[in-house]
Amino acid sequence: NHRLPIIAIDGPAGAGKSTVTRQVADRLGLTYLDTGAMYRALAWLILDRHIDPQDEPTVAELTSGAEIELIPRLAPQLTGVKVNGQDVSDAIRTPAVTQLVSTIAAQGAVRAKLLKLQRKYGDQGGIVAEGRDIGTQVFPNAELKIFLTASVQERARRRLKDFQAQGNQAVDLAQLEADIAQRDHLDSTRAIAPLQKAVDAVEIVTDNLTIAEVIEIIIDLYKKIQ
Ligand code: CDP
Ligand code: CDP
Repeated sequence: NHRLPIIAIDGPAGAGKSTVTRQVADRLGLTYLDTGAMYRALAWLILDRHIDPQDEPTVAELTSGAEIELIPRLAPQLTGVKVNGQDVSDAIRTPAVTQLVSTIAAQGAVRAKLLKLQRKYGDQGGIVAEGRDIGTQVFPNAELKIFLTASVQERARRRLKDFQAQGNQAVDLAQLEADIAQRDHLDSTRAIAPLQKAVDAVEIVTDNLTIAEVIEIIIDLYKKIQ
């Protein structure tokens, strides 16, 4: 198997995965793969169709018929996504989708479908993929695995800044912290592919690191294995 290298980046919300993964991919000339966008796309579809997210058979049926395609995009997110041909790149970033996504992501039919799709995107290698189960499930043979984390307080502060930078002042820090803690809990306690550090992943605690410092650490680790 002569595929190109794969870097797997996992961790909880607000750890810095998207920001860091994009820039690491740019620096190394690899392709950025945002797996969260795929879960968000299915959550969007379930909201759009007014389906009960707890109704697993109906969610499974809708999932199996859904066509999900990642599309390259410039700002504000580098990953866009189409569901059944419709561009939902902005719609998948709304609070309603964020609130629903972990419920959907716990379901077997959803994970099986997206796992297959993610492996298809990565079958030639040459990617830096971010998510929750990249190092443990999606690409267990990745050449480099990173587990990015930070305290829930720090991650909530970062998300608050992001909202404020977008002109949204009506966001409450305590509420953000509670929402993130709830999503951490759902993602790390589900039965299938929970958020977990792979045994062979390098953990980076980013509370007191800048984005540039985190990127440097990852590039250095990558150079060592080359
Ligand atoms: O960017 P943020 O951390 O808010 O979330 P994301 O990476 O877009 O992922 C959204 C949700 O999708 C997560 O909270 C997980 O429930 C789910 N997800 C997953 O289960 N497995 C992945 N590989 C990626 C995302
Ligand atoms: O993708 P994930 O949810 O893990 O996090 P993100 O959306 O990439 O990062 C959340 C915010 O934290 C962004 O505004 C980053 O610029 C910021 N950040 C930071 O301030 N310091 C770091 N070491 C990493 C990210």
